[in-house]
Amino acid sequence: MAEKLRPLIAGNWKMNGLTPSLMELGVMIAGAGIASADLLVCPPATLIAAASAAARASGTRVAIGGQDCHASPSGAHTGDVSAEMLKDAGASAVIVGHSERRADHGETDAVVQAKAQAVWRAGLIAIVCVGETQAERDGGKARDVVGRQLAGSLPSGASAANLVVAYEPVWAIGTGRTPTNPEIEEIHGFIRAQLVKTLKDQGARVRILYGGSVKPSNAAEILKLPDVNGALVGGASLKASDFLAIAAACS
Ligand code: PGA
Repeated sequence: MAEKLRPLIAGNWKMNGLTPSLMELGVMIAGAGIASADLLVCPPATLIAAASAAARASGTRVAIGGQDCHASPSGAHTGDVSAEMLKDAGASAVIVGHSERRADHGETDAVVQAKAQAVWRAGLIAIVCVGETQAERDGGKARDVVGRQLAGSLPSGASAANLVVAYEPVWAIGTGRTPTNPEIEEIHGFIRAQLVKTLKDQGARVRILYGGSVKPSNAAEILKLPDVNGALVGGASLKASDFLAIAAACS
């Protein structure tokens, strides 16, 4: 029987958001009190400091996170941002291994593992993303791919306090398509089993988020599936009303 964990609804703004978007964040912050979930918003790096300041000033439960980091704490890496810098700007969590990073920047499991380690070095929570492509799913390889990504991307030392896993089938991201509920349940159960195998009791308590075209209209049915402990939301996290509606679907 899957354990009931406090859900986490995380918004990934991706490369979207200018200073006026902080108004939208303000609406999310104002509405966060009604949600029975932890809320996290990951704006672009340029907005993290201002977003954190706004969240802190309101005393809200909305946490602010980064979308990626470099594995090193500092150094000659032009244009990169370290986990320590994200923490300094007010982030409490960092997404690593998003499929867009894996695809656009050639990030391997080893790179993602080093980044997750860096997130922990800075004292932040790592949200490690895994998920298969359409071709891999069609070839019956979804479990193999996700199992391999988990084994290769998670550093040792993971716990329910420092790790969140996000299952995001690549073919469902930004497409409006989602797996069927039995498909989500099946792969989340598989991820849970892998986590328990390697992390024992802690593995039973690591939150596993579903990501890929989550919206207000499908959130409730996805969020009630066993071993779905929240959602990683892209497009629908840009609008406060949609993001809050998804958060309100947690009960
Ligand atoms: P989407 O993106 O909700 O727009 O499909 C999800 C993600 O990439 O985290």
